[in-house]
Amino acid sequence: MIVSGTGALFCFTLFPLTLSLAAPSFTVDYKNNSFLKDGEYFRYVSGSIHYSRIPRLYWKDRLLKMYMAGLNAVQTYVPWNFHEPVPGLYDFSGDRDLEYFLQLCRDLGLLVILRPGPYICAEWDMGGLPAWLLKKKDIVLRSSDPDYLAAVDKWMAKLLPMMKRYLYQNGGPIITVQVENEYGSYFACDFDYLRHLVKLFRSHLGNDVVLFSTDGAGVCSSENDDDSVVKLRDTRTAAFEAQRHAEPRGPLVNSEFYTGWLDHWGEHHSVVPTEAVVKSLNEILELGANVNLYMFIGGTNFAYWNGANSPFAPQPTSYDYDAPLTEAGDLTQKYFAIRDVIKKYKKVPDGILPPSTPKFAYGAMKMKKLTTVSESLDILSISGPVKTLYPLTFIELNQHFGFVLYQTSLPVDCLNPTPLSSPLNGVHDRAYVSVDGVAVGVLERDRVISINITGKAGSRLDVLVENMGRVNYGKYINDFKGLVSNLTLGAETLRNWTVFSLSIDEVVKEGLLWGRVSLQDTGPAHSPAQPTFLSPPTFYGGTLEIPDHIPDLPQDTYIQFPNWSKGQVWINGVNVGRYWPSRGPQVTLFVPASLLSTKSPNNITLLELEVCPCTRGQCVVEFTHTPVINSTVTHIKPYTREKTLNTR
Ligand SMILES: *[C@@H]1O[C@H](CO)[C@@H](O)[C@H](O)[C@H]1NC(C)=O
Ligand SMILES: *[C@@H]1O[C@H](CO)[C@@H](O)[C@H](O)[C@H]1NC(C)=O
Ligand SMILES: *[C@@H]1O[C@H](CO)[C@@H](O)[C@H](O)[C@H]1NC(C)=O
Ligand SMILES: *[C@@H]1O[C@H](CO)[C@@H](O)[C@H](O)[C@H]1NC(C)=O
Ligand SMILES: *[C@@H]1O[C@H](CO)[C@@H](O)[C@H](O)[C@H]1NC(C)=O
Ligand SMILES: *[C@@H]1O[C@H](CO)[C@@H](O)[C@H](O)[C@H]1NC(C)=O
Ligand SMILES: *[C@@H]1O[C@H](CO)[C@@H](O)[C@H](O)[C@H]1NC(C)=O
Repeated sequence: MIVSGTGALFCFTLFPLTLSLAAPSFTVDYKNNSFLKDGEYFRYVSGSIHYSRIPRLYWKDRLLKMYMAGLNAVQTYVPWNFHEPVPGLYDFSGDRDLEYFLQLCRDLGLLVILRPGPYICAEWDMGGLPAWLLKKKDIVLRSSDPDYLAAVDKWMAKLLPMMKRYLYQNGGPIITVQVENEYGSYFACDFDYLRHLVKLFRSHLGNDVVLFSTDGAGVCSSENDDDSVVKLRDTRTAAFEAQRHAEPRGPLVNSEFYTGWLDHWGEHHSVVPTEAVVKSLNEILELGANVNLYMFIGGTNFAYWNGANSPFAPQPTSYDYDAPLTEAGDLTQKYFAIRDVIKKYKKVPDGILPPSTPKFAYGAMKMKKLTTVSESLDILSISGPVKTLYPLTFIELNQHFGFVLYQTSLPVDCLNPTPLSSPLNGVHDRAYVSVDGVAVGVLERDRVISINITGKAGSRLDVLVENMGRVNYGKYINDFKGLVSNLTLGAETLRNWTVFSLSIDEVVKEGLLWGRVSLQDTGPAHSPAQPTFLSPPTFYGGTLEIPDHIPDLPQDTYIQFPNWSKGQVWINGVNVGRYWPSRGPQVTLFVPASLLSTKSPNNITLLELEVCPCTRGQCVVEFTHTPVINSTVTHIKPYTREKTLNTR
């Protein structure tokens, strides 16, 4: 159904027949400042799509929509941490099947610009670097640090040989490969590291691969002296002067032409008007430049994959990006406007444009309380507790994502409100605090470093710490999680902790929480000194039965959380992402049909961290057909990338 009759532009067959023709080639024509494909002038009009943010089931649909917009290439990152969750264990299956993604691109007639990192930024946890690199506490990431390089070498020795057969000259779709990512704006300025990467890439991919680098408005970009690498610059507008300065000759490329912009929790949803995008795109194409539209489809930060900026500002679950295709792959007015611009410069395929996928409003679903985190530690903490004088970080516990519970007892009577503080701002990133099972407050990195608590000596203090996503940009990407410094109560440093590493995802997947009956009242706390709106972190469950008398179900949907506050949601054991409607701007989470079943009831599990509506009103979540990602309830001072401050 895909390319037949739509005039596929490229032929990548590996049949012996083609051997008699000239071998495919992709090179740079420095005389004419352009690319040459099979010896002929070529320019790409590309769009960014990150396979890691789209369910595999939808890769073909999204790629076909990109092809039908007139693009001849796509650009994707390869997030290292998505594929090597623990050292030496590689995952390229299912939604991580990069080779299948590349095959789809090739079959559809889309070339590929590959950005394999190792660092990718991308608003992705730790910029794609695996958290386990932080096992070496003082590792200098993105440099010639021998431990860092050893891990990079090992990973690239796995990834790049796999990519080699997908290079254009080997019959595949990959035309260019990026080395590192915007290194010019990184403080380390270690050109031995870049030279090492170039050598490494060439050793695995061959000398005829076209390597390129992109530098942001950099602190050290012009010093890069490797002539074998095509240097590109990110330009938000059509201004190419800077690139000409760095690279007097070669093709003009805007490798990140922004169609929209990213979001942070607590800020307004970013919107870039179609008119502005269309105007700049037209200027770029008129100049004869190559362009990549970042993003063409943003997709979703499922599970815990979002990154964060610093001062600490995590990105929400949706990576919609105000891109021409929405998070759910829907066609927008921006899509058609961009297609009209491209049409002026090159042929746009005829044929049938795949429609937006239908969405179904399954309606409200009752939730019931399962258990609190604190009362189910016996099942949640598979590895069991660790006793320690002072707190340990996630990485010291061998945990990378999610939640860790730190437990101790109050060393003294606190009959008057007494500050529980993190003097060094070491709560990474949010801590849900309770005393004897009663929620008393929330500490938040860079925002709330002290709360008052009361309680008798010996009372149990539970501090559940949430990793909200690692910093993905700038100097502070060595982002340790958990309690990374001591907590104090009054003037005293708290000691003698029992720390529970929590395997919540595994336990939810196994359905182990569903048998639990909660013993504890999670209603509002009653002591007048305590805020009355908080509940201790608690699991809720519910089942959604999909009607069988309606054809074509299941369909995509959006889940929303009326009067719930903040937490994590799993559907049939799959971690869909974080919800935080009390802060916004994102209110609904995209639920692809691939997660839903018509055969048996679908299991929805919430971990609500702050306030559940169940004691005061309706205890439901709701499935709707309309996304809401632009409702900012609590507005927090916006973060700007330019003004980075030291907050660690
Ligand atoms: C040189 O580049 C221009 C666009 O900049 C293109 O139109 C032309 O076909 C190219 N010529 C050759 C010989 O590749
Ligand atoms: C804690 O309580 C003290 C004394 O009542 C008060 O001065 C202080 O502002 C409170 N701090 C916080 C963070 O609420
Ligand atoms: C906590 O304080 C103790 C005593 O000052 C110190 O030795 C320890 O390193 C601190 N721990 C953390 C995680 O900061
Ligand atoms: C911590 O535990 C040690 C040994 O069990 C004990 O001697 C000490 O008093 C405890 N300290 C606090 C503050 O509870
Ligand atoms: C929901 O959970 C029940 C009990 O664990 C299980 O039997 C059922 O298969 C699950 N439903 C789906 C759609 O996975
Ligand atoms: C949410 O809370 C408000 C105010 O307490 C209430 O009026 C409304 O009915 C609640 N909505 C639901 C769906 O429970
Ligand atoms: C949110 O987006 C919708 C759909 O584009 C729009 O109708 C609405 O006005 C927006 N709301 C805000 C607060 O910007």
